[in-house]
Amino acid sequence: MACHHSARPEPERLKALTVELTSLSPYNRARSIRLKGSHRMDSNSTHYIVFGNEKGGTGKSTLAMHVVVCLQRLGYRVAVIDLDSRQKTVSRFLENRHKTIAKSGDPLPIAQFTTLPGSSRSSTAEQRAEEQQALQAAINSLSGPHDVIVIDCPGSHTHLSSLAHALADTLITPMNDSFIDMDLLGEVNPDTWKVDRLSHYAEMVWQSRKFRSASERPPMDWVVTRNRLANLHSQNTKRVDEVLTALQKRLFFRYVPGLSERVIYRELFPRGLTMMDIDLLSEFGRMQVSHVAARREVKQLVEAMKLPDPSD
Ligand SMILES: Nc1ncnc2c1ncn2[C@@H]1O[C@H](COP(=O)(O)OP(=O)(O)OP(=O)(O)O)[C@@H](O)[C@H]1O
Ligand SMILES: [Mg+2]
Repeated sequence: MACHHSARPEPERLKALTVELTSLSPYNRARSIRLKGSHRMDSNSTHYIVFGNEKGGTGKSTLAMHVVVCLQRLGYRVAVIDLDSRQKTVSRFLENRHKTIAKSGDPLPIAQFTTLPGSSRSSTAEQRAEEQQALQAAINSLSGPHDVIVIDCPGSHTHLSSLAHALADTLITPMNDSFIDMDLLGEVNPDTWKVDRLSHYAEMVWQSRKFRSASERPPMDWVVTRNRLANLHSQNTKRVDEVLTALQKRLFFRYVPGLSERVIYRELFPRGLTMMDIDLLSEFGRMQVSHVAARREVKQLVEAMKLPDPSD
């Protein structure tokens, strides 16, 4: 998407649109979505949680894996669409999980998933049409039997990723405790610590909100969370916190507590497990204090999403 300074959403316009958005239909209304230059995409009352930003390695897939398992433990029927067909982190996680279950027989929940590659057609128009059809087909087959569809996006701009953002009922954007990551939201002025200019990504989210509004979908809940928080508080941590707190009003996101830096969030990946599974495993040993703390962090993040209750 082209991003020009002049096209930046003005606070007044944002405010007006938000008023308009909040008066739109409730969750359970039949929904459809149309993006510029694309056909209508239909979806039902399934809740779409999209993990996205345009910066690699901020924790989208790690958060997605943990949120999926946590939601399942809370009784939600969850399916996953993996749009990162090169890394396939979440797909690989779920494949590993299948193998672990087959070996141990432990009663772990496992989400149905599909990996969507980008189209290799020669023309852009054909690529876009094929990608949209593929996403629509995935939605059609997964949305009926599932309360929630989690979509994990790659750390770069793609057409599939923009389609997913326009579908997002909840958009989760993780960022590390760094002004380099903050740059994915906006350019911070080094003298005033205010954001002078929105990023391409913030513009893309803004466009997605507009498309949703035009398609009579309820407003997107944009949740920004920090990931890999250090236990030691530094001046940098405090500054990032202050800038995010101020920026949430301007960009209409909710800034919620995230996950700390913990080895346990990555070391169970080869077995397709998370801390949220630990009490269901026949072999794991005693839960340590740090394990309990990790589980609490994931639960807090899920609670902060304020999702509709799972259907019966
Ligand atoms: N809270 C955490 N504690 C410790 N390690 C973490 C945490 N979150 C993520 N990591 C590690 O950081 C790296 C990047 O995480 P991840 O792959 O989830 O990011 P991503 O945003 O999905 O990346 P990409 O944009 O490339 O898809 C991985 O090695 C992961 O194990
Ligand atoms: Mg990833």
